Amino acid sequence: MQTLADLELHSLPMADPAFSADPWPEFAKARAAHPWLATCDFGFVIHQYDAMRDLLWLDHSLTGAYHDVVEIMEAEGTPWGRFQHESLLARTGDAHKRIRSVLAPAFTPQQAARHRPLMRKVIAGLLDEWVPKGEFDFEDFASFFPITVMCSLIGAPTAAIGSLRSSMEAFGLSMSMDKKFLPRLNEATLVLDAFAREIVAERRKARLAPGEDMLEILVTTLDEGKLSERELYDLLIFLFVAGYDTSKNALTLLMNVLIDRPDLYRRCAEDPALCRKVTEENFRYLTTSTIPRIVTKDIAYRDVAIPAGTLLFFPVSISGRDPAIANADAFDPERDQAKKRHITFGMGVHICLGQFIARAQIEEGLHQIAQRIRNPRRIGTSQWRPFYGVWGLKGLPIAFDQAEALEPAE
Ligand code: HEM
Repeated sequence: MQTLADLELHSLPMADPAFSADPWPEFAKARAAHPWLATCDFGFVIHQYDAMRDLLWLDHSLTGAYHDVVEIMEAEGTPWGRFQHESLLARTGDAHKRIRSVLAPAFTPQQAARHRPLMRKVIAGLLDEWVPKGEFDFEDFASFFPITVMCSLIGAPTAAIGSLRSSMEAFGLSMSMDKKFLPRLNEATLVLDAFAREIVAERRKARLAPGEDMLEILVTTLDEGKLSERELYDLLIFLFVAGYDTSKNALTLLMNVLIDRPDLYRRCAEDPALCRKVTEENFRYLTTSTIPRIVTKDIAYRDVAIPAGTLLFFPVSISGRDPAIANADAFDPERDQAKKRHITFGMGVHICLGQFIARAQIEEGLHQIAQRIRNPRRIGTSQWRPFYGVWGLKGLPIAFDQAEALEPAE
């Protein structure tokens, strides 16, 4: 059995902006040094698909390293630090099960399918507003889609979106491991907390039919004593932020790919089934998240002893690009579905609850975007977001030809 100290591992400079812009040569060096393990600024990185999959299942020996991230950020006693300690992702065992089971019925594939007409309506409304501009930053445009859908599903007023967006944007930097963002993170937590309190207070004055929207489900659960008031506000904050930058960045990354694949993009306007395949291939090809975990019990994996207390990072954003996957670097929506291996939505007890909503949103969004935004072309440069946490493009300025929808939105 080897110890971590015995291994000669490549060090991935994941906090470096140059790494965010082009991590591939560094991951190739990491693979050349060791098949599945590397180091980084704060711990170790699991970079191989099989190893990510095997280790993320070990919920009894690994847990979300969200408490450790608070320590690294020196955020103890701050509003954001408190939220990270108590959020759904940081919870374990029965406390996690109890809260997850409140949400789970609202996040099934059937529920996601039920929300498709709402998603179509939201994207159609946004396109009506944005397409006449003729050119815009696609990332800005894309950001309004998941917030509007989420506010509608929760039952929160969409009028507040303008003022909430910058807080959600700030919250997207939660796992960036960069202390300079702490003041913005704290401010964003306070804004979202105040908003959560406000919508709960409003709902108390005018209740809806049982189960009519997520807020009604959550307030009922609170009344039944199955959720504390603090847990309710934290869940609302979490729901607003969990699907925001992940979905926005995934859609922006997809547009960035499709700008260079005009034939494929054009066909997405006509073919919803192709939009499904393109969306899934996008989740394999390039997505957003790096998951932090702390080892809670000594483990041994493939002859390497990993002691309790080791901080592990799982860049699931690149899990689908493992060289073991045939032709991994080609964007091919027609590839065999059974071989589309990726862990974009995590694995184990914290696997993304919103994954069916995320898939449906991007499929519906892409189909209408491809109809109304014809021949998109870049008119400026993009930057990259920090690789730690939620990665993706920062800005995607485009110009395009305006067109009418091929079919009326329901
Ligand atoms: C492209 C879009 C998305 C991606 C890539 C994504 C990714 C992830 C990942 C990797 C995790 C696991 C984190 C961990 O294990 O520490 C997660 C958890 C979660 N996501 Fe998503 N997500 C997306 C969209 C959404 C949406 C739209 C929602 C809600 C509407 C959502 C709600 C959640 C929730 C509630 C959890 C926590 C589950 C738990 O702790 O039990 N996500 N997501």
